[in-house]
Amino acid sequence: MFFKLTDEQLMIQSMVREFSRKVVAPTAAERDKTKEFPADNFKKMGELGLMGMMVPPEYGGEGTDTVSYVLALSEIAYSCASTAVVMSVHNSIVCESLNKFATEAQKKKYLPRLTSAEWIGAFALTEPHAGSDPVSQATTAVRDGKFYVINGNKRFITTGKNAGLIIVTAKTDESKKHKGISAFLVENGTPGLTVGHIEDKLGLRASDTTDLIFENCRVLAENMLGKEGEGFKIAMTALDCGRIGIAAQSVGVARAALDAAVKYVKERDQFGQKVAKFQGIRWMVADMATEIEAAQQLMFSAAAMKDRGEKYTKEASMAKLFASEMVNRITGKCLQLHGGYGFTKDYPIERMYRDARVFTIYEGTSEIQRIVISDQIFKDKRQS
Ligand code: CAA
Repeated sequence: MFFKLTDEQLMIQSMVREFSRKVVAPTAAERDKTKEFPADNFKKMGELGLMGMMVPPEYGGEGTDTVSYVLALSEIAYSCASTAVVMSVHNSIVCESLNKFATEAQKKKYLPRLTSAEWIGAFALTEPHAGSDPVSQATTAVRDGKFYVINGNKRFITTGKNAGLIIVTAKTDESKKHKGISAFLVENGTPGLTVGHIEDKLGLRASDTTDLIFENCRVLAENMLGKEGEGFKIAMTALDCGRIGIAAQSVGVARAALDAAVKYVKERDQFGQKVAKFQGIRWMVADMATEIEAAQQLMFSAAAMKDRGEKYTKEASMAKLFASEMVNRITGKCLQLHGGYGFTKDYPIERMYRDARVFTIYEGTSEIQRIVISDQIFKDKRQS
């Protein structure tokens, strides 16, 4: 590892590694089958400080830096990608948006519930006809006295069913395009909010992905996050941190896939020798380890820039783009190294291969990351 980690970061990594391998890993395959949301594990993760890692201690968080957070998240992803995506949206998007944009009263009300994992957070931006282009969303929020009345449908919402608090974006002024979008803190169970269709997915099966339906859902005006018209900026800022989280997830799953493949080829005999003895296999392993290291460095670099208070939009997208494409290549190759057994549910590589597939899609597809990266390059006057 080239990035020099501090003693504290190494300690957090080793604590989370132990928890992840002992508590999260043993039931991951079963969860993939049953789709059971690991509510008990999230409670334990709350107790360990993993559900509000970057939240200041006065609101119940751990106050760690982003580098420690990505280390922890990739350790959880190593064992169970379904658990990791919930942790990622909760920490990177929901807690960080509250940290940055909430009023003192909102922080006091919601952050302790989130950091203890009494409530899990969700982020409702995407709609049936507004995925890569969230400015075209159709959900509206109309002011009515002390309330805003929200109407519309959200789609593909991670933890839509199990969340306690949802950050919802809606149009408060149709004429102003992205400047007419606002964000709201909506508690699950608010009248007018129902959970719609629950997706039956290829991977990440223990994390619920749902439609959320808003029908005259009345939310107190004091639950607006940020100012009216700031919702798109809040969503984009949240996605910068979210994308580092997806890079961390990718690194975690890729490390797990490579470890599984190395173990397999060391044990498997063909043509009178261990498969690991063949040079073609060894070179594949070397290339994969190098790609994982490169992704990890991009992840650390974006996280460290965030910790230094620098703008890291481009670097977060680069980390997400490279790491999510890397893990898809690597889970494919590691499955190949398992031969026919890789295609069965007897080996965890089959689940990792399925879980990784969405990483190049959610929180901005690879194509969107390329738009973000190139826009930042053309905007940057320092580029030669
Ligand atoms: N931080 C802060 N502000 C930002 C920003 C950022 N990273 N990116 C853009 N903005 C601001 C711009 O400065 C601009 O504001 P001003 O007019 O005040 O200057 C405003 O936002 C509009 O910017 P653009 O003109 O660039 O916006 P656009 O409509 O062209 O869209 C986009 C840009 C990058 C394509 C954006 O729409 C995008 O990221 N799309 C993908 C959406 C996405 O990732 N969705 C995933 C949803 S979450 C999820 O996956 C589910 C889950 O739970 C896991």
